[in-house]
Amino acid sequence: MTAAPSGYATGWFVVATSAELAPGEVRSLTYFGRRLVAYRGAAPARDGDRDAGGGGAVRVLDAYCPHLGADLGVGGTVVDDTIRCPFHAWRFAGDGSCVEIPYNRGARLPVRACVKAWPVRERNGFVFVWHDRLGRPPSYEIPVIAEHGSPAWTDWTTNKITIRTQPREIVENVADKGHFPAVHGTHIDEFDNEFVDHMAVQRSAGIAYPRGGGSDRFKLTATYYGPAYQVTEMESFLPNRLVNAHTPIDEHTLDLRFGVMLEKVGGDAKMARYAAAYVDNLQRGFAEDVQVWEHKVWRDRPALCDGDGPIGALRRWYRQFYPEAPAAAGAEEQAR
Ligand code: FES
Ligand SMILES: [Fe+2]
Repeated sequence: MTAAPSGYATGWFVVATSAELAPGEVRSLTYFGRRLVAYRGAAPARDGDRDAGGGGAVRVLDAYCPHLGADLGVGGTVVDDTIRCPFHAWRFAGDGSCVEIPYNRGARLPVRACVKAWPVRERNGFVFVWHDRLGRPPSYEIPVIAEHGSPAWTDWTTNKITIRTQPREIVENVADKGHFPAVHGTHIDEFDNEFVDHMAVQRSAGIAYPRGGGSDRFKLTATYYGPAYQVTEMESFLPNRLVNAHTPIDEHTLDLRFGVMLEKVGGDAKMARYAAAYVDNLQRGFAEDVQVWEHKVWRDRPALCDGDGPIGALRRWYRQFYPEAPAAAGAEEQAR
């Protein structure tokens, strides 16, 4: 076993749903212990960013203006593909560079007048930013979910909860076979993990007992793409796709987003009811985990038994998202 990973992982993290950023909309965010601003500008989205809905690409910048420090996310407005600071109306492009100062009398803009721009992808109805401990560009991509946008499937029904825990606790669920019956009342028949590059896969089958009553025989493949975004393909009473994604707010809290998409077997009203019930059940499931997560300690050297899942292998896989800078402490901050 390895020591607890600390700081923020390298990878893609969900910071909003596509629906939360209408054309021209600005959102103020706090993630990775920093203030960020997201906005949907007018410039076309990249290939593969399928959720722009004609509204242009989403941009994510550090929030504090390099001029006199106003928060661009609080009162900032979108002008074309730029965001205008609420304080003195300097405008910043999606790459973080200052493109206009309304009262600048020199020909040139101040060299230092730029903010950090975060790599962004919009996939499957979610907006991701790339956080890298060493300041490197993205090393993998988020795959498209083929069913998303299909008329045979509903759109996402999503929710978000804020939890006082560490990302490593959320991720460990993927290999923690033993907790499913104890915490979730789920009967497990098959359980298998595979760790390949930046992906961690769980294949399982069993019977879930939704807290609202009844039973649901399921078979699923749940795949983490990187440290913080998991897609589940499930065969059950209703075939579904689940997303669960966590993003650290600071070193002690994180946002956990989850969503469900169902294959349509009835009209919109019926599907909306099913989706609401699924999300409610998911939320109850997470609430069961949360009670443990918010009160537990981390064991670097847990006492494991034969029936436990491959927790050591999961931890070794997860470690890849916490590369250390070769230089002394402080390099991470400088690289950002
Ligand atoms: S603080 Fe942003 S323009 Fe002055
Ligand atoms: Fe769980």
